[in-house]
Amino acid sequence: MKLLHIDSSILGANSVSRELTAAVAGAVRERHAQVETSYRDLASQPLSHLSGEIIGANFIPEADWSATQRSEAANSAAALEEFLNADVLIIGAPMYNFSIPSQLKSWIDRVSVAGRTFKYTDKGAVGLVTGKKAVIVSSRGGVHSSEQGKLMDFQEDYLKSVLGFLGITEVEIIRAEGVNMGEDNRAAAMAAAKAAIAKLAI
Ligand SMILES: Cc1cc2nc3c(=O)[nH]c(=O)nc-3n(C[C@H](O)[C@H](O)[C@H](O)COP(=O)(O)O)c2cc1C
Repeated sequence: MKLLHIDSSILGANSVSRELTAAVAGAVRERHAQVETSYRDLASQPLSHLSGEIIGANFIPEADWSATQRSEAANSAAALEEFLNADVLIIGAPMYNFSIPSQLKSWIDRVSVAGRTFKYTDKGAVGLVTGKKAVIVSSRGGVHSSEQGKLMDFQEDYLKSVLGFLGITEVEIIRAEGVNMGEDNRAAAMAAAKAAIAKLAI
């Protein structure tokens, strides 16, 4: 089994999502005999934001590419290949400003490629990335699973929608929320997330 483990938290050793993605990866390795892991740290090695120059390479001959277009095409190809090769994705996705870290959005912009990971037909969009499972590790300082909190959640549903759009519909969410609402809440959230990891069907 090929595992792609992605972290995007900017909080380093204090990160909740990093601790939990590592626990999910550990659980996958415990349950499967042969696991080949690719690891991508989008905070320490960020993919740059998609720019006019980067995407412009699609519309000119390769021979005319700038040095930036060449190196960025290689970065995009590497991210895409890693994504397409994986059987299971573990995505560390903290909530920052009600959404995902911009580093994770940059990764999405590199792997959402018309003709490779989705296509449009006369009946609408079709995801081309099938047969994969994803585990989203969602960490939040506040509580966003409540009716009121959901109104400000552009993180979990967004990620599920993007993955679904690309064809990945088997998605589990491991959530630790309220982690900035005092020590007790944080400890309870971590314990609940770890209990959910122990029960994950992966
Ligand atoms: C830049 C930044 C923005 C944040 N925005 C939110 C937010 O909108 N809602 C929320 O509930 N928590 C917010 N938080 C708290 C984080 O979700 C919380 O610290 C969580 O643990 C982040 O995951 P991580 O520890 O893996 O980075 C924010 C934290 C940071 C650093």
